[in-house]
Amino acid sequence: MRLLVINGPNLNMLGIREPHIYGQSTYDDLCARIREHAQSRGVEVALFQSNHEGAIVDRIQAAYQAEDGIVINPGAYTHTSIAILDALKAVGIPTVEVHISDVDARETFRQISYVGLYAERRFAGYGFDGYLMAMDHLIDTYGE
Ligand code: DQA
Repeated sequence: MRLLVINGPNLNMLGIREPHIYGQSTYDDLCARIREHAQSRGVEVALFQSNHEGAIVDRIQAAYQAEDGIVINPGAYTHTSIAILDALKAVGIPTVEVHISDVDARETFRQISYVGLYAERRFAGYGFDGYLMAMDHLIDTYGE
């Protein structure tokens, strides 16, 4: 099984951006945890981060017939991007939405999720562990 983990805008600034909300660990720390977890579960993983909506759409399209599951934290595009939602629907790959923070307990504008209209599960408020929980869901549901 091959998984794709996508992080959207400003997630490359983890460790620097609002550490009281997103923690002190960096994007590289996150990637290391995801790679370690993939190895321990015996799956392949590709990691992608972009601050650009179109680049995220392009990467989702490239996953068609190449990847078996998507874990996505779309950052602020969660709350605005119909294009990312449409790309996920177009490729039809099982998808899990992740947020480091508990978005439902924050500003009301963070409580709308377009990606959530397609994603089959959401893990929010578990910090980096949410990514591993999302990977486990996809592996346990769709096989190793
Ligand atoms: C986030 C929550 C979003 O509302 C925010 O715009 C982010 C990060 C999270 O991981 O908690 O960039 O997706």
